[in-house]
Amino acid sequence: MALKPRKTVLLYINGVRHEIGADRAGWMLADYLRVSMGLTGTKIVCAEGDCGACTVLRFFPGLGKKNAGRSREFLSVNSCITTIAQLDGSSLVTIDALAKGDELNPVQEAMKSCHGSQCGFCTPGFVMALSGLVEKKIGAGVGGKLDRKEAQNALTGNLCRCTGYQQIVDAAASFEVRTCDSVGKRFYNGAQEKELKAALAKPVSLASEEFIFFAPVGLGEACRFLARAPAARPLASATDLGVVHNKGIRRIEKALSLHLVPELYALKISSSGVVSAGARVTLAELRRALKEKCPEVARFLDLFASPQIKNIATLVGNVANASPIADTPPFLLACNAVVKIAGPRGKRSVPLKEFYLGYRKTDLRKGELVASIEFTLPAAGELFALYKVSERKDLDISCVNAGLALGLDKKGAIRGARLAFGGMAATPVRVARTEKILEGKVPSAELLREAQASLQDELTPLSDVRGSSAFRRVLAGNLLKRFFREKLEIQS
Ligand SMILES: Cc1cc2nc3c(=O)[nH]c(=O)nc-3n(C[C@H](O)[C@H](O)[C@H](O)COP(=O)(O)OP(=O)(O)OC[C@H]3O[C@@H](n4cnc5c(N)ncnc54)[C@H](O)[C@@H]3O)c2cc1C
Ligand code: FES
Ligand code: FES
Repeated sequence: MALKPRKTVLLYINGVRHEIGADRAGWMLADYLRVSMGLTGTKIVCAEGDCGACTVLRFFPGLGKKNAGRSREFLSVNSCITTIAQLDGSSLVTIDALAKGDELNPVQEAMKSCHGSQCGFCTPGFVMALSGLVEKKIGAGVGGKLDRKEAQNALTGNLCRCTGYQQIVDAAASFEVRTCDSVGKRFYNGAQEKELKAALAKPVSLASEEFIFFAPVGLGEACRFLARAPAARPLASATDLGVVHNKGIRRIEKALSLHLVPELYALKISSSGVVSAGARVTLAELRRALKEKCPEVARFLDLFASPQIKNIATLVGNVANASPIADTPPFLLACNAVVKIAGPRGKRSVPLKEFYLGYRKTDLRKGELVASIEFTLPAAGELFALYKVSERKDLDISCVNAGLALGLDKKGAIRGARLAFGGMAATPVRVARTEKILEGKVPSAELLREAQASLQDELTPLSDVRGSSAFRRVLAGNLLKRFFREKLEIQS
């Protein structure tokens, strides 16, 4: 029997229960906090996920027993690009709740005493991002001072225009984690979990004049909804969609959310290195899962966006968004990824290299969505590197990115060359002609020059604000050169 859908979403904010209907569920969380709740500690500056002023902490208890406690931590997320509806079932903590009356918590006190705040506009975001790191440390049973490097990494999603970062990092490294109370312990409890989990077992259907939101509990129902309502868009974590919505380019008006479908949270790694990541798997979860098995992926993901974005953004969203400069497609192309698609007529699989049909165009048909991505990690002994070239090292969109993999046979000849680039064509691409040139040959400076020349022929980059076509061609050739130098010690 079909479950009766809920007409509201349920979440907790600073330990207080909120049931929110269609009239406000399409709002961004930051607006809801500030306008509806008067919690003006959370600031809005860029409204694009770039500055971190709107950072809050979020815990999602997971679905059923299988997904329960995937991560017990309250994680930092940007509230300016996150709709209330997609946070259904979450417990949130904002800056307003950290102090106990007039008594600042140790993170706030440190920012004050180390002069980490001037105009103060960015300060709530810094405090919340650091509180997310503190929460992680408490969860891991670590009680000492924060490491400066780790604090800097936790703050890559926060911008300050007046204080300068030195004092902020000084503040981060000045207090003992053991002096901090866990926000999880303060604002989350068994009763809350029981209620959230009971709600998460039921679908949601919201409709107002401006906002339609459907969240089914099964994949079949999701596809049937998409087939009936082709104008509806799958909404994952909205780190792409929320930005275009806020810019007024394309509003989130009719959304299908997959957050109640348990199978989409699965992240499996087989003993032969085949990874399967469901549509709800976040980039932070993927990084954690691959850190030991494939450190190159973890290193590369450190250059992806900010912790706030990665804590919520999905791998599937990055692929389905079909941006030619998205960072994960070249890596996935080099790992022979296959897109697992679910639709009204059942499931099908499409190799990622055939998934992109043109600029921002995918092979998804009416009623279809991406259920998961499957890819194979490089085998032991294979040469593998992921590169990203952007103006800034942290929190920047790529000009060109690449995923490069080569095997060598016993005679030292190249086997299974997989070279993939982003930012070099209307879609992320594998360069089949150049791969063929390398195949079966022993690497040499001459072979590298031949492959570099072939790349120039095979790739047709566009010129845009991040780089001219000519610049991008030079970059692609140089990335191949770097790969040969780093992995084979060959210079052209
Ligand atoms: C500040 C900032 C920094 C960023 N930095 C980077 C970066 O360094 N590198 C990079 O590559 N990207 C970056 N991004 C872009 C974005 O974070 C990623 O593309 C992210 O992976 C999108 O995932 P999401 O879950 O938020 O997707 P959403 O925004 O929810 O969805 C993205 C698109 O995918 C579609 N979609 C989602 N799920 C499915 C599904 N299951 N089936 C079919 N279609 C689906 C949606 O309809 C939408 O068109 C950045 C974004 C911001 C705001
Ligand atoms: S306001 Fe800048 S990240 Fe949200
Ligand atoms: S203290 Fe003014 S923006 Fe950071």
